[in-house]
Amino acid sequence: MAKDPNHPKTVKDAVALLRAGGICAFPTETVYGLGADATNSDAVLAIYEAKQRPRFNPLIAHCADMEMTEKYVRFSPLARKLSQLWPGPLSLVLPLREEAGIADIVTAGLDTLATRVPAHPVARQIIQAVGHPLAAPSANPSGKLSATTAEQVKKGFNDAVPVFDGGNCEMGLESTIIAIHEERVVQLRAGALPRIEIEQFLNCHVELATSEVGISAPGMLASHYAPKADISLNVETPEPDAAYLGFGKHQSSMPSALNLSPSADLHEAARNLFAYLHALDAYGVSRICVAPIPETGLGEAINDRLRRAAAPRQ
Ligand code: TXA
Ligand code: MG
Repeated sequence: MAKDPNHPKTVKDAVALLRAGGICAFPTETVYGLGADATNSDAVLAIYEAKQRPRFNPLIAHCADMEMTEKYVRFSPLARKLSQLWPGPLSLVLPLREEAGIADIVTAGLDTLATRVPAHPVARQIIQAVGHPLAAPSANPSGKLSATTAEQVKKGFNDAVPVFDGGNCEMGLESTIIAIHEERVVQLRAGALPRIEIEQFLNCHVELATSEVGISAPGMLASHYAPKADISLNVETPEPDAAYLGFGKHQSSMPSALNLSPSADLHEAARNLFAYLHALDAYGVSRICVAPIPETGLGEAINDRLRRAAAPRQ
């Protein structure tokens, strides 16, 4: 792909590019997505190529509103209830309407489609104007850290993909992925909408995807979100030869140290997570030590990303 692409300056430019079958990164409230028209297989193929993403790993189709989602997936009563949480950081894996025109490559041949209505006004404006759902994985090369700023997207792809800069992402963590499997609610990926909030909303238990439950997200690999440096977790005392990612009272005054949230606020920590990992990685250290993060609420998703970032690389 050409280096130094013509980055779209306006929503109109981004829409024209996407309607012509191009790919373009755009902001959502969670992380930046790398979008293409989900009904155009060649356009979607270009996303897999740019990300070097394995073809077995399906994409999320982003819709402008409920009316658009209904054209492409079927809602059971339980799914309909969950859709009341839209727009927002929730992806629902639902039965695909095969005849509706989503390119096969989006679902990697599955008979379900992951779909969500993002809350970011720019994202919804773009999708509405394109008139079709946008397939959009996180805008990072496969296996690397997700991006929450336009600059990180440009850097991640060596300035080889067009990026619409719509500011920094407010939440900083990907959407929570929920499947409805035999009328059970199963969380396939922890994310920006905490599981406890979904349980309170539905007044029922949300199961975790395990091999017994028999459903998973094909892209949930043990090693993911990997910075260049190695990561050590639950480190309470900073070490002199490693960078330190603090949280709350666990912090360091070394130059190569940052605190995800001095006040131990998990929302602030989620928003800062990828940006701070990018920043510490840029110091060129060989190891980043991370303070303990509580496993409650949003902490579930933060710890999920950190464990994958720390896992042995494939
Ligand atoms: O917040 C987000 O979800 C961001 C923004 C851009 O919306 N997108 C994102 O996409 O995180 P991506 O491609 O990085 O992660 C999508 C995950 C993958 O783990 C994939 O395997 C899973 O969703 N997935 C997609 N379709 C699925 C399906 N039909 N069944 C099960 N898992 C699916
Ligand atoms: Mg991703």
